[in-house]
Amino acid sequence: MEIFKTKAALKAFLKPLKASGKKIALVPTMGALHNGHISLIKVAQQNADIIICSIFVNPTQFTDPKDLEKYPRPIEHDLAMLQDAGCNGVFMPNVEEMYPAGADEKWHIDLGNAEFLLEGAFRKGHYQGVTQIVKKLFDAVEPDVAMFGQKDFQQVLMIKNMLAHFNLPITIITCPIIREDDGLAMSSRNIHLTLEDRKHSLVLSKSLQFVLDHFDEYTLAELETKAKALYDGIDGVALDYFTIANGDTLEPAKSKAEDNLVALVAAKVGSTRLIDNMIIK
Ligand code: PAF
Repeated sequence: MEIFKTKAALKAFLKPLKASGKKIALVPTMGALHNGHISLIKVAQQNADIIICSIFVNPTQFTDPKDLEKYPRPIEHDLAMLQDAGCNGVFMPNVEEMYPAGADEKWHIDLGNAEFLLEGAFRKGHYQGVTQIVKKLFDAVEPDVAMFGQKDFQQVLMIKNMLAHFNLPITIITCPIIREDDGLAMSSRNIHLTLEDRKHSLVLSKSLQFVLDHFDEYTLAELETKAKALYDGIDGVALDYFTIANGDTLEPAKSKAEDNLVALVAAKVGSTRLIDNMIIK
């Protein structure tokens, strides 16, 4: 597995591979890898010949500087996982390489109204930062395909909107959420959960599963009320939002007959903010 710190070195590695017709996949990450990320590598291997994983903790997508500071960076462990998974190359630039003019470099594109809903309402400017770095990573790798996890449902939508904005010829593949045996969605943030938080965190997947299991029994409003009630009285858990939304617009679903429905949740569990979602139909 090759490791690249600069765009130039990465491009030099990829150039002959592309010239010989190899299909390139990019799996963008911020490191602190878990089996969810490895599942993206596996899907990438089914869809391309050469797999590049990027590890870059992107400063422009953090709204809270403390969150950026405490973001886990277990780089040796990450590299060992990628090596075991059969990844071909890792791109791990520093901040100067990605933001030569400084991380306050100007970037603003129209991502549509969904930018301002849900996560966008709680983390102002977050998706501008995400799309800014993903565009830079796309420019560095020029992949044929790129893998993103469904866990960050809104992020995938924003990246697709960015792709449309620049008319980039890249196929985005959304990979299913990987869960622990008890239902908790895998996330790099889970390591911050105390034992007590870890137990309480199960309410997220349970409330989503409730909607999926009872979709035919109740109205949309009843489903939301009942799912939210599951959070009542759980110590240290504060719900930011729970919604059944249209998967294209992220606006609250108006009717159960809509085609593309997804239940999405965000909650603070102890001091850790978790998100999760389930596609309902
Ligand atoms: O999902 C993530 O890990 C990040 O938001 C991404 C897509 C790597 C951009 O920094």
